[in-house]
Amino acid sequence: MFALGDKITGRTARIAIIGLGYVGLPLATAFAKAGFSTVGLDVDRHKVESITAGRSYIPDVPDDDVAPHVETGRLVATSDYDVLGEVDAIFICVPTPYDAQRAPDLSYIRSASKGIQPRLRPGQLIVLQSTTYPGTTEEVVQPILEESGLKAGKDFYLAFSPERIDPGNRQWSAYNTPKVVGGLTPECTKLATDLLRQMGAPVHPVSSPRAAELTKLLENTFRAVNIALVNELALLTERMGIDIWEVVEAAKTKPFGFMPFYPGAGVGGHCIPVDPYYLSWKAREYDYYTEFIELAGEVNQAMPHHVVDLVVQALSLHGKSLRGACVLVLGVSFKPNIDDARNSPAERVIELLLDRGAIVTYHDPYVPHFRVGGDVFHRELVILESVPLTEAALADADCAVIVTAHHDLDYEQVVEHAGLVVDTRNVTGGMPDGRAKIVRLGAPLPPFTPESEGQS
Ligand SMILES: NC(=O)c1ccc[n+]([C@@H]2O[C@H](COP(=O)([O-])OP(=O)(O)OC[C@H]3O[C@@H](n4cnc5c(N)ncnc54)[C@H](O)[C@@H]3O)[C@@H](O)[C@H]2O)c1
Repeated sequence: MFALGDKITGRTARIAIIGLGYVGLPLATAFAKAGFSTVGLDVDRHKVESITAGRSYIPDVPDDDVAPHVETGRLVATSDYDVLGEVDAIFICVPTPYDAQRAPDLSYIRSASKGIQPRLRPGQLIVLQSTTYPGTTEEVVQPILEESGLKAGKDFYLAFSPERIDPGNRQWSAYNTPKVVGGLTPECTKLATDLLRQMGAPVHPVSSPRAAELTKLLENTFRAVNIALVNELALLTERMGIDIWEVVEAAKTKPFGFMPFYPGAGVGGHCIPVDPYYLSWKAREYDYYTEFIELAGEVNQAMPHHVVDLVVQALSLHGKSLRGACVLVLGVSFKPNIDDARNSPAERVIELLLDRGAIVTYHDPYVPHFRVGGDVFHRELVILESVPLTEAALADADCAVIVTAHHDLDYEQVVEHAGLVVDTRNVTGGMPDGRAKIVRLGAPLPPFTPESEGQS
């Protein structure tokens, strides 16, 4: 039972990562970079082929972090679960979406655990990293693994360590973002802590897997609730004739007790719109209703409707209606400068625009194709293709809607050539006043003037 500790400090432990996505691939390359022999296991053949060829498919992971380790054999990728019998530590980084009723879908975690179970060896360490509700490690993963006849905490080690990766963030990565770890026993916590420390970032141990699971949900619920607060205030400031962006900038000057959050078309990605519901679902088992989560969800999910209302108001300034109007959506990934469009609020904005008779195109340099509908909510599937951002495309649109503000787009050009602009991210906030054609979320509407009608 002491052999694993020695292998960790000597960096001779062999590591497996199940799920080579946005979370698993950076983790795999970080272990390989730290000198560990690492195998990535994914059911997606294309990902395995890409890694085997030394190519990354995640923008935050350069090929240079993959190819040299593949060449030395320190990093390999496979779809064969049998490799798990040969490794010392296994990280599970598979998806945790929700279903049509917003209930947790743990099918990927179950499937990965069932893949480990027949190959489990005494002395192995299993670390769940997928974001999930408190209790998953002990109530779902542990029983499946123990079907092997081995006991968690005695024959093998089991822990939960949430992933905090922030795609597109250049400052904080897998190498410097502190990790939180909670093991089933103190020994499980210690081994998982010692292993994660080898990657260079500080590690904060907690008393149990549940505490670690809830830590991640607290972090994401905190964001969901604060974004909802500022979204709600944005709706109010529009009516009050105050600019929310100016107010947040001013509040930000307080050096303590305030953290800025910004309004927008809603929340997206794999985490903020999903994780809080994992907690509210589990809370019901304890006769408890997490009202902040529900309220935040209600406010954030209403934002795409509000953005469409702003488009209607903008068009009416120019005497136009949404039905038959050409609307160009700018930015459809869920946050700037990344290619991840999962759960992006742009999808709902586009659906609502289409439902109300608009002709919708979009431009996103990071997302060449964008799926709208065809999801768990059974809407008809439409696949749109990104159009080039040309003067003609802007001039042809009755209204351009900035949903996600990629940093490298020329917003001066957008304002110059589009007939109308609805800006949900305040990228036009610093542009000269008197631009009657810009409608900013959370800011006073431009006054109606005969001249504005004349611009249409
Ligand atoms: N993306 C993020 O920014 C982020 C941040 C923090 C935490 N998380 C959490 O991390 C987990 C993974 O998220 P992600 O964004 O990396 O997902 P992803 O969809 O990018 O990657 C998951 C990978 O797992 C693979 N997979 C699915 N089932 C498998 C199985 N049974 N065996 C082997 N491979 C399998 C998929 O093919 C895919 O490549 C989720 O719980 C998510 O909530 C994500």
